[in-house]
Amino acid sequence: MTDHPLDLAGIGIGPFNLSLAAQLDAVGDLDALFFDRAPAFDWHPGMMLPDVALQTSFLKDLVTAVNPTSPWSFLAYLVAQKRFYEFLNAEFEAVPRREFAQYLAWVAARLPSLRFGTAIREVHFEGRAFRLDSDRGTTRARNLALGVGLQPSLPAFAEKLDPRDHVHSSQAIFALDRIAGKRVAVIGGGQSGAEIVLNLLNRDSDAPAALSWISRRPNFQPIDATPFTNELFTPGYVGSFHALPEARRRSTVGRQKLAGDGISAATLRAIYQRLYMLRHLAEKRLDTSLLPHRTVLDVDRAGGYRLIMRNGFDGGIEVAHADIVILATGYRYTLPPCLDPLRERLTLDEDGRPEIGADFSASWDGPADHRLFVLNGGLVSHGIAEPQLSLMAWRSGVIVNALAGRPVFETAPPAPPLTWPTTQPERVFHEGEGCQ
Ligand SMILES: Cc1cc2nc3c(=O)[nH]c(=O)nc-3n(C[C@H](O)[C@H](O)[C@H](O)COP(=O)(O)OP(=O)(O)OC[C@H]3O[C@@H](n4cnc5c(N)ncnc54)[C@H](O)[C@@H]3O)c2cc1C
Ligand SMILES: NC(=O)c1ccc[n+]([C@@H]2O[C@H](COP(=O)([O-])OP(=O)(O)OC[C@H]3O[C@@H](n4cnc5c(N)ncnc54)[C@H](OP(=O)(O)O)[C@@H]3O)[C@@H](O)[C@H]2O)c1
Repeated sequence: MTDHPLDLAGIGIGPFNLSLAAQLDAVGDLDALFFDRAPAFDWHPGMMLPDVALQTSFLKDLVTAVNPTSPWSFLAYLVAQKRFYEFLNAEFEAVPRREFAQYLAWVAARLPSLRFGTAIREVHFEGRAFRLDSDRGTTRARNLALGVGLQPSLPAFAEKLDPRDHVHSSQAIFALDRIAGKRVAVIGGGQSGAEIVLNLLNRDSDAPAALSWISRRPNFQPIDATPFTNELFTPGYVGSFHALPEARRRSTVGRQKLAGDGISAATLRAIYQRLYMLRHLAEKRLDTSLLPHRTVLDVDRAGGYRLIMRNGFDGGIEVAHADIVILATGYRYTLPPCLDPLRERLTLDEDGRPEIGADFSASWDGPADHRLFVLNGGLVSHGIAEPQLSLMAWRSGVIVNALAGRPVFETAPPAPPLTWPTTQPERVFHEGEGCQ
């Protein structure tokens, strides 16, 4: 810990603050330290199932988009591991998530500005600097970067489930060895639910006795990773999106869900093919129920659990049975408890998210030259790219520029191939004025 105020203190070292630390490493005159409560970098260990893959190009790494000569790129990692040619020859359709996690951990082990094993308990503002209290001491910094990630989103009925009988997907790997011979329900039709279902279908002697896969979405729906949809994950689109009124941004994010949160086509294909094998060709059958368009409303106990569901087809109520429930029900943003002393000073939206400006700093009633940058809190302010890896290198560049007060990195978006309304040079009609 230091007495001299840093230029920046980062809370949390997931990929997003790691990217910021990697970009800051190229800047000589800014002092920054980043803290994480974990003993070492480990990327979503509870979901590191065998054979899972990245949903993003490896070029969208920690640094490349704005600093391609950084020593902290994925390609630099491959070269350092002496894996460059072999990696290319492997022709992965998508990079193994284990490989990308090793890359992130490789960077985390080498950047001098990271401090693991340090949980930040409280943050106060003392007039000239933020004070961060941890069990290891106190640090002062003129600016903060909040990179604490998202929290598991648990439905209200989860409280009725015995802790031994349920798990959120973020901890799935630690529970899957307990499912042999049990009736298992996986709730959630996103990528996490799909990966867990595939893992359970692929089991042999340690397979569940029965498997139900329940999703609120109308079907088991793919991620849209086609070119024009991928334009939503570019700085140009984010700039236009951020300029929209809040109500517009909210409804747009809702409509764009499958661009970021759908299931990879390869995972859907693998699940379907495995189901085919189990239904028609395998010696041993597995009792499976695939239940899309069902919202689990409640549970009760009856020789295991009864899951009460409303189906979205005709609104009817149905029941599924399970001994173990896996809640692949996604994540939500919450302001971390360590920021409670500053909560009243931040402008929060109706969901409790900080209002975030174009440079990713939160609006608050403190001095404007002491900023609190928020990473992964801007789904509503910056759009669906915000919780994804896609733009982390660029976002870090924007934050570095704001911190330095000069353009260290080129972050201005190039002209997009599509004309988004707010990038249109000349507007002819405004809403409500146009022809019907
Ligand atoms: C299983 C999984 C796979 C994903 N794969 C992809 C993908 O392929 N492509 C993609 O674009 N996106 C993917 N995502 C989405 C997103 O990229 C990741 O969730 C990413 O890890 C988000 O990074 P983060 O830095 O915001 O948060 P996190 O990775 O969650 O890191 C937050 C860190 O903050 C620390 N922390 C929290 N509070 C404190 C505190 N008070 N003091 C100290 N430390 C604290 C935590 O220990 C943690 O290490 C995936 C998400 C999941 C769940
Ligand atoms: N390999 C990878 O790259 C990888 C792996 C895992 C996760 N991820 C990423 O991480 C992010 C989170 O993914 P995720 O799968 O954990 O979460 P998610 O995409 O938010 O999916 C959660 C699912 O749970 C459903 N749900 C919630 N409550 C329900 C209920 N009561 N009854 C029935 N269904 C319910 C949701 O339905 P609604 O959609 O209707 O709300 C949704 O289908 C995504 O961006 C994803 O792409 C990536």
